[in-house]
Amino acid sequence: MNILFPKNFLWGAATASYQIEGAFKSDGKGESIWDRFTHTEGKIKNNENGDIAVDHYNRYKEDVKLMSDIKMSAYRFSLAWTRILPEGKGTINQKGIDFYSQLIDELLENNIKPLITLYHWDLPQKIQDNGGWSNRDTSNMFAEYASIVAKNYGDRVNLISTFNEPAVFTIHGLVDGYMAPGYADLDHFSAAVHHVNLAHGLGLKAMRSINNNLELGCVLNLSPCIPCSDDPADIKGTKLYDMYWNRIFLDPMYKGLYPNNFYKNVERYLKDADLNIISQKNDYIGLNHYQHTRVKSDPDYLLKARGAYGNEKPFNMENVELTLMNWEIVPEAYYNQIMELKNKYDNPVIYLTENGCAYPDIIENGKINDFKRIEFYKKYLSAVKKSIDDGADVRGYMTWTLMDNFEWALGFEKRFGLIHVDFETLKRTPKESYYFYENLIKNNGF
Ligand code: FCB
Repeated sequence: MNILFPKNFLWGAATASYQIEGAFKSDGKGESIWDRFTHTEGKIKNNENGDIAVDHYNRYKEDVKLMSDIKMSAYRFSLAWTRILPEGKGTINQKGIDFYSQLIDELLENNIKPLITLYHWDLPQKIQDNGGWSNRDTSNMFAEYASIVAKNYGDRVNLISTFNEPAVFTIHGLVDGYMAPGYADLDHFSAAVHHVNLAHGLGLKAMRSINNNLELGCVLNLSPCIPCSDDPADIKGTKLYDMYWNRIFLDPMYKGLYPNNFYKNVERYLKDADLNIISQKNDYIGLNHYQHTRVKSDPDYLLKARGAYGNEKPFNMENVELTLMNWEIVPEAYYNQIMELKNKYDNPVIYLTENGCAYPDIIENGKINDFKRIEFYKKYLSAVKKSIDDGADVRGYMTWTLMDNFEWALGFEKRFGLIHVDFETLKRTPKESYYFYENLIKNNGF
């Protein structure tokens, strides 16, 4: 063994409410935009949906036990806003509050630190009916929801992220329509970007006014962008893509400014104190990272770069190893991304909140020998270790994901879990990577 991590490094897994919980109407839960979107013919591969997903809502104890069996020290999960506030605002649904309260207690009894994400894409449909993120009121509703969470769970949970990957849900939800709510409208998009940023700031403020001990931040999906050729058009396109994918949330939240070229799009939505609210102190950056992005200039490139979330091969590539998502395996990009945060964003505390890969993962003689996933983890974790050695303040790693689940518009086909799930019987079977993770935790390295 030669790769050792710092003492007290958190080892965990990440999930998202809509992808695992199921129970889409149980115990007073309201409708979310992902319920609506998946129930609309033609939006999801094979018209699948998360109505049942992997039934975590009813099986959470079994799932926590699987984490505890390998001594995970952290678990990052998201709350469904519609369980807590079925209409997005107003009356609180006590059964929704209770569900997450029980989950948190179960985690703590098993020495697993809960990390909450407030918003992993499942906006209440009622709020969407009022304009969703393009309406400034939504930012205030989010802050109200955040304060309810802080009041109910802040005594037991101190690490809370406002959003998961704002670029992904605004670009794919409002520019190319690939994800819920499924629009293609650039005006909505620019307004939404600003209101999500504002909601982040208002959310932090609301939670801090209730509990000063919380550790708060946002989870961003960041990816170094590289041109796919020397053509000046590709080089220019790469800068633009980097701005949309990486900077329009990172910079306002962590530096208090919008990139120059984007400012004109949001100027009309900005009020005096907004940027101060948005850029108030963050305690950490949550980094989700899967691959770097090769950019080819295209007048519609915002819609086309990278392919629709993994369905197309990257541009211009020969002999590069890809995962089942057609994502390139490039551990150096992970290292570069972490170091960029260290060097350009004031050496922040970083939690690695998602990283992982999809493979077909077939059961043979009762076993799933997902050795390619193990190789992937070894490469990516070596990159993490190198960044720590080079001074990055990385405090934990959450693999995506605990168990196979509903992969958004791609339905159930792409398996990312450490644990295999039979989607008919919902039986959980640990893969070989789960045992790799067990040893990794035991030795704090590999
Ligand atoms: C991330 C999402 C997560 C999952 C992985 C594969 O962008 O946050 O929910 O879909 O990709």
